[in-house]
Amino acid sequence: MDGVTLVDHPLVQHKLTLMRDKTRSTKGFRQLLHEIGILLCYEVTRDLPTELVDIETPLATMRSPMLAGKKLVFAPILRAGVGFLDAMLDLVPSARVAHIGLYRDPDTLEAVEYYFKAPTDVADRLVVVIDPMLATANSAIAAIDLLKQRGARDLRFLCLLAAPEGIDRLRKAHPEVRIWTAAIDEGLNDHSYIVPGLGDAGDRMYGTR
Ligand code: PRP
Ligand code: URA
Repeated sequence: MDGVTLVDHPLVQHKLTLMRDKTRSTKGFRQLLHEIGILLCYEVTRDLPTELVDIETPLATMRSPMLAGKKLVFAPILRAGVGFLDAMLDLVPSARVAHIGLYRDPDTLEAVEYYFKAPTDVADRLVVVIDPMLATANSAIAAIDLLKQRGARDLRFLCLLAAPEGIDRLRKAHPEVRIWTAAIDEGLNDHSYIVPGLGDAGDRMYGTR
């Protein structure tokens, strides 16, 4: 699918199966989300530019690659996106963070904003929006709209599970934003939950209902 990277690494698929299982504990669900977050972060950063710097090893001088340019921004959509954040920061500890508070109104399915705080210079940085679920894409589209209003120009979207409907809508709304996902499921049910999916990611992460 154009603009979509499916991360079908066996470790990711194995861990995702464990997460989908409705008997998985809250603790287990959170731990698995963290572990998959590390693997997805590895993929979404695969093509970051590097530059050669001069260093001295104990034996010789050399020119060796390091990440180039400004630090990344990770932008979790609250609440569930926070489940990926520590994993991403484990791999990229110097990244900045933009918190985007949105919840999906259960009746209208519209994304309702309740918090937004981003670095002032998002315009100069690669921003990776993170959220486990891409269902109708209302939340992802709203989050990217907010970041663009702040000046962000270079954006990626990282999720765990995506519905084909959500991918289509996000690609139409923001065609330049590439998507990384661990799975593309069958579709949405009457309540716009992803099927077979894993249920409500935020509730399963935090033990709420
Ligand atoms: C979930 C999920 C996404 C959104 C996806 O959040 O984490 O943000 O739904 O659905 P969409 O693509 O149809 O917008 P939710 O609104 O349940 O909030 P929560 O993370 O606080 O539980
Ligand atoms: N949000 C979730 O947490 N799960 C879904 O299946 C859809 C939206």
